Amino acid sequence: MSVRIESSIIAQLQRSSSLSVLTGAGVSAESDIPTFRGADGLWRTYRAVDLATPEAFDRNPKLVWEWYEYRRHLIEKASPNPAHIAIAELEKLFRDFLLITQNVDGLHSRAGSEKLVELHGNIFRNRCSRDGRLVGKARENDVPPRCECGAYLRPDVVWFGESLPPHALEKAFEFATRCDAMIVVGTSGIVHPAASLPAVAKQHKAWILEVNLEATPITGLADDSIFGKAGEILPQIVAMLMV
Ligand code: OAD
Repeated sequence: MSVRIESSIIAQLQRSSSLSVLTGAGVSAESDIPTFRGADGLWRTYRAVDLATPEAFDRNPKLVWEWYEYRRHLIEKASPNPAHIAIAELEKLFRDFLLITQNVDGLHSRAGSEKLVELHGNIFRNRCSRDGRLVGKARENDVPPRCECGAYLRPDVVWFGESLPPHALEKAFEFATRCDAMIVVGTSGIVHPAASLPAVAKQHKAWILEVNLEATPITGLADDSIFGKAGEILPQIVAMLMV
């Protein structure tokens, strides 16, 4: 069943020359990648403190590595869904565009998005747990594999308590201060600093559209909200913009 998109939403987007899209795990839900919160969310089954903190890795690097390996396998089997593809299409329709994602699954790039920043890293990259250097090839005989320097490798993702990659963060906040419109898709809007971006954009006069299954802390500040599946709503928006 298709969701009704108000023509005023399309008109607002047509008036905007710079568009930012902020995404969270909900955008990959229709690719069968579990979200973090909600009924089937990862944090319902697993404890973030055991798996997604530097302390957890220090305590039990093998457990943490294997959990990320499990997630990598899930993601490798998945394909971009119509929401990812629609966002890649949006990039072509706006002169000035930035996709800001909290997702580490790389599905936006696989769908064709090029102007993007990955605020929480990428699960398919590894870095040295000692000096943070990105490492392509690893010594595979240990779990986790080791860097040439002998330290364990870790996934190049942001764990709780860690800082976000400064360049990505700076680019995201800079764009939020100057975009005309921001579409916030599939995020629960509770993990900062990413969750602050819509408020920053709004303070700088951007129009905010939220696309989510349900209301979130972003809903109150959004100018418009469309409740439903991103994989159904975003392709409709693109189709209406292209008429
Ligand atoms: P969450 O799991 O917190 O939220 C997912 C959101 O997507 C919820 O608001 C759902 O209602 C919505 N959603 C689910 N399916 C959807 C669909 N088909 N279409 C539209 N919306 C849908 O995920 P994030 O907000 O991304 O951080 O979580 C933020 C961060 O918390 C993650 O990046 C991760 C996590 O801990 C780190 O690992 C650092």
